[in-house]
Amino acid sequence: MIVRRRTDEDIPGCVRTLELVHALNGYPTRWPANPAAWLRPDGCEAAWVVADMQQPDTIIGHACVIRGVDDPVAASLTGATPDHLASVSRLFVAPAARGRGLGATLLAALSSWSAERGLHLMLDVVDDGGPAVALYERLGWRLVDQRLSDWVTAQGERLPMRSYLAPENDRRGPK
Ligand SMILES: CC(C)(COP(=O)(O)OP(=O)(O)OC[C@H]1O[C@@H](n2cnc3c(N)ncnc32)[C@H](O)[C@@H]1OP(=O)(O)O)[C@@H](O)C(=O)NCCC(=O)NCCS
Repeated sequence: MIVRRRTDEDIPGCVRTLELVHALNGYPTRWPANPAAWLRPDGCEAAWVVADMQQPDTIIGHACVIRGVDDPVAASLTGATPDHLASVSRLFVAPAARGRGLGATLLAALSSWSAERGLHLMLDVVDDGGPAVALYERLGWRLVDQRLSDWVTAQGERLPMRSYLAPENDRRGPK
C-alpha cells in the first residue's frame, strides 16, 4: 500500500470505499446527497489516500485536514487562533483493510503536515464506542470535550460527540 496526497482522479475510488464504510459502520451517519462534494468540505486544505499497490485505482483509506476551525475549547487549550486550528475529517479505511495500521498511518501523515505549518490538530467523533474512538485513545489523543452534534440524524436526533486534541497540541503535559 502507498499513502499519498489525494488527486481529483481518486474521488470515484474514495466514494466506492465510502459506500462500503457507510454500509458497515453507518459512517457518515447520513449518506450525503453529493458524496464527491462531501469529500471536499469547506476549509479542506489537504487530503490523503491509501492506495492498493496492486490496484492503484482502489482506494483503501482516506482522510483530510480542515483549516480555520472555530472551537473555543480547543482554542483555549492550545492558544491557537482559528487560522491555526485544524481538524481531521473524513477519516475512513476500507473494511477489508482494517487493523493493519492504515488509520494510524493516515493520522501520522496529517499530523506531520500540520506540525510543519504550525497547526494544532483536533477532531470530533461520534461517541458510539466504535473503532475510531479506540484508535484515537490508543494513539494518545486527549478527550477535551463532550457535546451534542451540531447536525441531526435522519430521525432528527443530535448525537453525543467527543472532541479530541492531538497529543502534541496539549499544553497540560503527558497523561
Ligand atoms: C477508525 C478506522 C479509520 C480505523 O482504521 P484502521 O486502519 O483499522 O486503524 P488501525 O489499523 O490503525 O487501528 C485499528 C486497530 O488495529 C490494530 N492494529 C494497528 N496496527 C496493526 C497491525 N499492524 N497489525 C494488527 N493490528 C493492528 C490496532 O491495535 C487498533 O486496535 P484498537 O481497536 O485497539 O485501536 C476504521 O475503523 C474506520 O474506517 N471506521 C469507520 C469510519 C469512522 O468511524 N471514521 C472515523 C470518523 S471520526
